Amino acid sequence: MRLRHLGSSLVVEAPAKLNLFLEVLGRREDGYHNLDTVMIAVDVFDTLRFSNTDHPAIRLDVSFDPRTQASQLAHVPVDDRNICVKAARLLQRDFGVKQGAFIELRKRIPTQAGMGGGSSDAAATLVALNQLWNLQLTSAELHTLAAQLGSDVNFFIDSPTLAVCKGRGEQVEKLTDCPELNFVVALPTDGLSTAAVFGALVHDRRVERVETFINRLASAHAPSIGEAMFNRLEMPATELDPQVAELLNLMRSSSRLPPRMTGSGSACFALCGGRGEARQLAARLRSRHNGPVWVCKSCITMGAV
Ligand code: C5P
Repeated sequence: MRLRHLGSSLVVEAPAKLNLFLEVLGRREDGYHNLDTVMIAVDVFDTLRFSNTDHPAIRLDVSFDPRTQASQLAHVPVDDRNICVKAARLLQRDFGVKQGAFIELRKRIPTQAGMGGGSSDAAATLVALNQLWNLQLTSAELHTLAAQLGSDVNFFIDSPTLAVCKGRGEQVEKLTDCPELNFVVALPTDGLSTAAVFGALVHDRRVERVETFINRLASAHAPSIGEAMFNRLEMPATELDPQVAELLNLMRSSSRLPPRMTGSGSACFALCGGRGEARQLAARLRSRHNGPVWVCKSCITMGAV
């Protein structure tokens, strides 16, 4: 994420993620699943502006980029159910904070898409309010709070471009030397619930090895990386929502490298050989697909907060 001061406010650009690899290792006693996943931060951003207030209320105002589908309005609550409000309240409760905050959230990352929009917004809230409220929490302390908010929040806390995430997703091992990778992302009309997709998964005894994928990444060669991308949740997601299967078929017929779904869906993406190839693929998809289509790339210049 990128932070900048604007008067007495803090403005954060919170990136989306794509899962280049996702294997489900098994169901746990607590109902979650253990994963091996490789996540990459990409340059599609929500923007959050945080202002300090003297009274303890947490006020949230959400606006949408005009390119965001109107149907997504329904999925972003502005009350205590919003993950940003939950993150702020967690900080207030655990650290006896008497101040409050006004959060202005501009959404660009689609919801229920597997792109980590809510998780990135929650991580931005923890990091920004830690500064604004002068709490001086360490990265380790922020990670403990992040894990209480959701499985993908930890990935965004230290702003790695690329990481392997294990456990239920909250154990983040940063990977260095991320190559610049260009993607086209496309969205079906409907989003998918993470819990529903995990619930529909039929376990396979075969396990795809994340180490093999990480070796491919080290080659920095887009075709070898693209061919090795994998997502175990694709099968249950396409069974729950045939639109995901249709979109993947459409992308397969137009792109050089096999497309994949990200996270628990419903967004799908293809890795391209360069920016030019990505723009051409996006143009082909826009003429044949009704939903939004983005060109994006890995956030290689993002750095630490
Ligand atoms: O942690 P998060 O709120 O993102 O998870 C939403 C739901 O997705 C969980 O309640 C659980 O049903 C499912 N999930 C899972 N295993 C994971 C992550 C999520 O089963 N590793």
